[in-house]
Amino acid sequence: MKSYNRTTVTAALPYANGPIHIGHLAGCYLPADIYVRYLRMRGKEVAFVCGSDEHGMAITMKARKENVTPTVIVDRYNAMMQEALSDFGVSFDIYSRTSSPKHADVASSFFKKLDEKGTFEVRETDQYYDPVAQQFLADRYITGTCPKCKSENAYGDQCEQCGATLSPMDLINPKSTLSDAAPEIRKTKNWFLPLDKLAPKIRSYIESHPNWKPNVLGQCKSWLDSGDGLQPRSMTRDLDWGVSVPIAGAEGKVLYVWFDAPLGYITATQELFGDQWEKWWKADDTRLVHFIGKDNIVFHSIIFPAILMEHGDYILPEDIPANEFLNLEGEKLSTSKNWAVWLHEYLEDFPGKQDALRYTLCATMPEAKDNDFTWSDFQLRNNSELASILGNLVNRVMVLNNKYYQGVVQELGKSSTDADLLNSIVIQRDKVSHSLDAYRFREGLSEAMNLARIGNKYLADEEPWKKIKTDPQRTSEIMGTVTQFIAALSGIFDPFIPFSAEKIRSMLGISPLLWSDLNGKVLVMPGSKVGEAKLLFEKIEDHEVETQKAKLKKTS
Ligand code: MF3
Ligand code: ZN
Repeated sequence: MKSYNRTTVTAALPYANGPIHIGHLAGCYLPADIYVRYLRMRGKEVAFVCGSDEHGMAITMKARKENVTPTVIVDRYNAMMQEALSDFGVSFDIYSRTSSPKHADVASSFFKKLDEKGTFEVRETDQYYDPVAQQFLADRYITGTCPKCKSENAYGDQCEQCGATLSPMDLINPKSTLSDAAPEIRKTKNWFLPLDKLAPKIRSYIESHPNWKPNVLGQCKSWLDSGDGLQPRSMTRDLDWGVSVPIAGAEGKVLYVWFDAPLGYITATQELFGDQWEKWWKADDTRLVHFIGKDNIVFHSIIFPAILMEHGDYILPEDIPANEFLNLEGEKLSTSKNWAVWLHEYLEDFPGKQDALRYTLCATMPEAKDNDFTWSDFQLRNNSELASILGNLVNRVMVLNNKYYQGVVQELGKSSTDADLLNSIVIQRDKVSHSLDAYRFREGLSEAMNLARIGNKYLADEEPWKKIKTDPQRTSEIMGTVTQFIAALSGIFDPFIPFSAEKIRSMLGISPLLWSDLNGKVLVMPGSKVGEAKLLFEKIEDHEVETQKAKLKKTS
């Protein structure tokens, strides 16, 4: 096993063309954040970088729809996404953007280096051109009749009616969506990454990572083994929104968005560390981990590594823990149908309840297959897990401490049940580590909750509320022990529900914990005074859930 001294963690740069919804959070940002918080608690050196992806058709189509410039769109959503992610505690070390001048420099010099090495194959191809709008047409800007099902509104890359994958030249009666004009065919030159030639290197890179998640390896294999194998892919586009291709003969062209966007991770790292950035991308003892959703797998496991390999100075992704998709109430999330729960709207309806959502999304995270978020599941998990198990335990301990001892922390007990309770902290902590090391976030969370269950059982067995009358000495020991226990609980839950972990710590008057503190030792000084009991989780009422369900129906 190779040993690493630091980890560069990236989360997919979201397109700055709309607000963030629960699918984004569950698919990528939440697991990345849990993982990073866990590594930080283990005292590991880690950089957590992200930013918005501000090029590509996702942006220009949105701008056209609103009849504004792409800049208006990316400025609006870059700010909005950054705010929503930070409101939910996603603890990036930097949130950058790919429209920055610095990023244009990084992406250009990467492209130049590959061009100088002779990586690219320059090819002339036929492309549709809109004579009225005077521009080449991206696949999505061409509609026409589907050659397969004859539906009249097929796009240049796909027919949404029958699902056929198309190329623009397949369409019958093609039409430009920019001007309605019939497009003409013109020759154009583009710079192709020869994935066909690089395939053997890519294959051996992928095969040297048999530990990747099965859903990730499955997609890699199907790309590598598909009928025609990997095909050359153009890294340039005839568009006017993007990073200009920095070489002579390529005027009026921009870099393909999937060439520039992953390099945004590097730009962000440079912004974060200044001249100290290089070790995060070039040192052999750095581990590079990409958190993404399943639609990004091919770009992170094949295309981006191919670009990095060709450059030569960079380390390659060591792990790509991609998730599948989250559905909502049994249906696919859809921005256009407004079938989504938007983070900023959730916060308006459930202020301060970020952790209820983080908890539910982690518990139902689509790790191995698509999974469903439902409002009733959200209510159930909040009420009968967060509130009844964790919240209830913490609350009882705080209330009893205040009632019996005016909040003064008692000494630890020495009976075997006390030792067992403290020992369970270590056992559960190690189980959580084991799960998180393997990116099994649901399992990790449920082992954390099992620790809270163990605490509830201890209290129910020991019954301090009865013993206070007959055995005050033993009661003091029980309370001393369980007070240390809830401090440890705040630590084990910290990566998952950081807002609540912080609330527990502030009630106890302690500072943030390290993973190594979760070993059964004293975390709150005996003799110190804890604060008042504050409710950690309010119950979520039926009517609140009904309101949310109705809201989905109303707007769809
Ligand atoms: N913007 C892309 C998406 O939302 C993800 C880009 S990831 C990066 O699907 F690696 F390119 F940055
Ligand atoms: Zn069709």
